[in-house]
Amino acid sequence: MLNTLWNYCEGHFKLHGGDHGPSHWRRVERNAIALAAHTGANELFVRIFAAIHDSCRENEFDDPAHGSRAADLADKLRGEYFELEEGLMQNLRYALSFHDTGDTCLDNPNIGTCWDADRLDLPRVGIVPLPRFFSTDAGREKCLEIIRNHRDKPITLTPEQMLAQIEKLRNK
Ligand SMILES: [Fe+2]
Ligand SMILES: [Fe+2]
Repeated sequence: MLNTLWNYCEGHFKLHGGDHGPSHWRRVERNAIALAAHTGANELFVRIFAAIHDSCRENEFDDPAHGSRAADLADKLRGEYFELEEGLMQNLRYALSFHDTGDTCLDNPNIGTCWDADRLDLPRVGIVPLPRFFSTDAGREKCLEIIRNHRDKPITLTPEQMLAQIEKLRNK
């Protein structure tokens, strides 16, 4: 049922692949579904978040408005590409608008699960996530697993390596 939503999001995405493209969205979806089994989050809710949350990015590096654009897009697509009752829709708007602020959400498992699922994919850009930025117990557990797995091979980039990576991407 969400295939048309995914097709829409992939079709209007302005970037090509990259760190915030559809393969990241799919990993967020997988993370979110796995977390939802423990957090009790609504599976449809987290899957809609995964498909939309980064689809309005206009660049890879500095785009603080991409969350609120994603919330506007969700409003536009509701009813035609997915159905969600009004209470959940308000939560979805909030989850999308503020997903990249670094906040946690301890009292709403739908929102917390989405944000945790997104942060669990930080290793793709060379960042080991930290437990204090997680909202759910299941998310923190997974985060600790990532830390344990990377203990002997830290992948956190130094500022110099980060700049070099950005430079490389710019010159592509
Ligand atoms: Fe984002
Ligand atoms: Fe993301």
